[in-house]
Amino acid sequence: RPLEDAQLRVGGTALVIGAGIAGLAAAETIAGFGFEVILVEREPQLGGTVARLAPAPGGETGEIVAEKIRAVTGHPRIQVLTRTRIRAVEGFLGNFRVTLDSEGATSEALASTIVVATGLRESPKERAMERLALSPDPAVLSQAELEQRLGGDFGGEPGGVVIVNCPDAEEIPPCGTCRIGCGVALKNARRLVERFPKTTVHVLVRELMTPGLEERAGSGPLHPRIKILRYGGERLPVIRRERGRFKVTVRDDPLDAEVDLRADLLVLTLPLAGDPENEALGRILKITLGSGGFFQEAHVKLRPVETMVDGIYLAGAARGPGWVADAIQGGMAAGFKAAVPMRKGVTQREGTYAVVDHEGCDGCGLCDRVCAFGAVLLEKKKDANIVPALCTGCGVCAADCPRDVIDMNAFEDRQILAQIDAALEHEPQRKILAFLCNWCGYVAADTAGAGRIQYHPAVRAVRVLCSGRVDRSFVIHALHKGAGAVLIAGCRPGDCHYVDGNRRSARRLEKLRWWLEKNGIPPTALREVWLASTEGRRFAEIVNEMAEGLGAEQSAAWRERASRLLAPASAARRTKLSSPAASSPGADDRAETP
Ligand code: FES
Repeated sequence: RPLEDAQLRVGGTALVIGAGIAGLAAAETIAGFGFEVILVEREPQLGGTVARLAPAPGGETGEIVAEKIRAVTGHPRIQVLTRTRIRAVEGFLGNFRVTLDSEGATSEALASTIVVATGLRESPKERAMERLALSPDPAVLSQAELEQRLGGDFGGEPGGVVIVNCPDAEEIPPCGTCRIGCGVALKNARRLVERFPKTTVHVLVRELMTPGLEERAGSGPLHPRIKILRYGGERLPVIRRERGRFKVTVRDDPLDAEVDLRADLLVLTLPLAGDPENEALGRILKITLGSGGFFQEAHVKLRPVETMVDGIYLAGAARGPGWVADAIQGGMAAGFKAAVPMRKGVTQREGTYAVVDHEGCDGCGLCDRVCAFGAVLLEKKKDANIVPALCTGCGVCAADCPRDVIDMNAFEDRQILAQIDAALEHEPQRKILAFLCNWCGYVAADTAGAGRIQYHPAVRAVRVLCSGRVDRSFVIHALHKGAGAVLIAGCRPGDCHYVDGNRRSARRLEKLRWWLEKNGIPPTALREVWLASTEGRRFAEIVNEMAEGLGAEQSAAWRERASRLLAPASAARRTKLSSPAASSPGADDRAETP
């Protein structure tokens, strides 16, 4: 049956959320291609965090931001909306309907693409102060507070400053969602010694990580009045107030000696986190939050400014902390990416998408919740519709649909069931029915073959695009047909090519195993494994292990029990698209599953 590619028309308006430096760069880039931009900022002024910072290495931030603001506010194709928030977003690439809230007044806007350029914040200072046993003290500042003081009237010259890096970080090095903390500490240390001729700054570090050349910018290599001491992460500095000053006792790791320091000012370099409203915005846009409250990119190396939802892109600190130059480059990159489908005027995808049997759908919305690509439209909560041009064909929705009314255009249920039947036609009890995901499980099996690694011939492979496609009824059907065991092989955690299909599969299988066990089918009948595509040897080992157990667990008694229990589900599965699922035995059968 020939499949038809899906196409979507894409217009020429982009929405940019956040008018920090990255958002400004994105808006300017998109408008530079001749497209309209709606730039939305919740604060009354533009510029975001960078506008409040002391100069970053390599440039005067104030000037950079002011220049960008001038370019954007004076641009004829950029509409700037301040004091405005995003309340809702519906639709998809080429047709996003956005509800805006401007101090209580709501309005609607249409956009073809969206750039998310939200900012970041420091983690709460209180947690770090608690770890250091410090009471509230005006002379204890975070780096952001120090930046503000440096940008204005500082007060008197501090006799000494101690900067403590990573005081509340759990991991060593704690750079996953920080990246710039060490650089910020050095930058501010340099600003202090340049401004105050007698001040010495001690920077206490667990590890010193300064990617790039930032520590060399400005006044060059470290100033003689900046001293760096390395302390072991588990031995935090002991800080006390003594005669109006701080006494900091720290174990210098390389010297293996205790050092006493005096300071008038204590600065804490805290981990950075995504904007506190990211979580709510992520729910509205259906994009995933990663660690530290930053948004997750589609692929850290291959698609760093894209999300898994087509038409939504990430700029600057929306995906993690970075320097001003990184934010500008990130904003420009997101702007370029957002302009691509608008420039083409159309987007296209292969015809492997999901299809819904509308008669049986009751609009429960589970498919919408499990779809990582925003490809499901729920029409007034009554009926699910798939947007073919957004659907990647992973099949997670089809496997999770509680009424069994979603099927795929390729890797159809009936095709998979026919493969199971054929694979188990002869001596099924001696067969391992293996569902292999296209990207890792199947490739691992291929790798084993290419590497001439032998594995037991009992295995019969059924290829699916993602392990998330494996419906409980496929497993049930295979066991009902007498399979000696069922194996599901997918990608390693975090490596699923459809975001979290493997995670959803694992959860589904856990419940299924519990249910099977409750009904007398041993847990060894079903096994899952998460592999890298290169792990041919591991694939072979698992198959060989499973093959050893073939027949041992199986008895006529449990096979018969399985048949009795499982037959209705597979029968329902075969006919689901031709009969309303509400009345099918499969639906009742599902109700019994946990
Ligand atoms: Fe391999 Fe999802 S693509 S498990």
